[in-house]
Amino acid sequence: MNPNYKNWVPNGMIAALSAGTALLGAGTAALLCTKMNTTAKKLLAGTTGLGAAFCGGMLGWSVYAHGKFSYNGQRQLSKQIVEGTAEYITLPEGGVGLDVGCGSGALTIACAKRNPQGRMVGIDRWGAEYASFSKKLCEKNAAAEGADNTEFHQGDACKLNFDDETFDAVTSNYVYHNIAGVNKQQLLRETLRVLKKGGTFAIHDIMSKARYGDMMQFTNELYDEGYERVQLIDTTTGKFMTRKEAALLMLGGSALLIGKK
Ligand SMILES: C[S@@+](CC[C@H](N)C(=O)[O-])C[C@H]1O[C@@H](n2cnc3c(N)ncnc32)[C@H](O)[C@@H]1O
Repeated sequence: MNPNYKNWVPNGMIAALSAGTALLGAGTAALLCTKMNTTAKKLLAGTTGLGAAFCGGMLGWSVYAHGKFSYNGQRQLSKQIVEGTAEYITLPEGGVGLDVGCGSGALTIACAKRNPQGRMVGIDRWGAEYASFSKKLCEKNAAAEGADNTEFHQGDACKLNFDDETFDAVTSNYVYHNIAGVNKQQLLRETLRVLKKGGTFAIHDIMSKARYGDMMQFTNELYDEGYERVQLIDTTTGKFMTRKEAALLMLGGSALLIGKK
């Protein structure tokens, strides 16, 4: 049995965009074929035509991004990012790590495989927007990878259901930018809350200023509080992707925040 980590651009999204493009395109063509020559017809045809063009554009982008992210494709960008982030997670003997927003379990499992001396916990809210990800899928993937040092639970990144300083390491990949209306630095703080003193963290996300505010100031604050080796690594200058690729995939501003509490 092989693992199936699915895709950050779900097949369902591509199917919905294909259907939308086809329906709006057909509607526009049907309107243009009618003999009426009214302003209302022109307006309606213009609107459906624009809708079809927008859906078609989104469809083109989704197919492109799906190919880049695919675990079976040539580029395998998701795999590169997951494995590149997992490299920063080291657990002590018997230690436990947390992956926030584990999705299909890829990063949890990658960390668990690198740390057979410890154990990884993956949590996710598994909501409707990523309907192909689930706890069951994570467990199936862990079994397929032989990673029996993993466990998965429903949870919310905004309010983690763990006491302060529970984990020896914390990680996360492309989760917080999805959470609308919540201060992203507060989300980082919530993740760091459950990290033990001396534990390590590696958090990858789209940390653009518009989303996260001043991250240099945030890293300085961490240093002031006694955190060590805090680094904000731009992952769009060759580490995980090029600037051009990041821009095309709408991943501009991607960065990895690493360090020790
Ligand atoms: C792009 S996927 C990334 C999944 C995984 N980290 C990976 O690298 O493959 C984003 C994930 O964040 C999860 N997510 C979004 N909001 C969340 C929240 N408030 N709490 C926990 N998980 C959340 C989604 O359910 C989804 O699985």
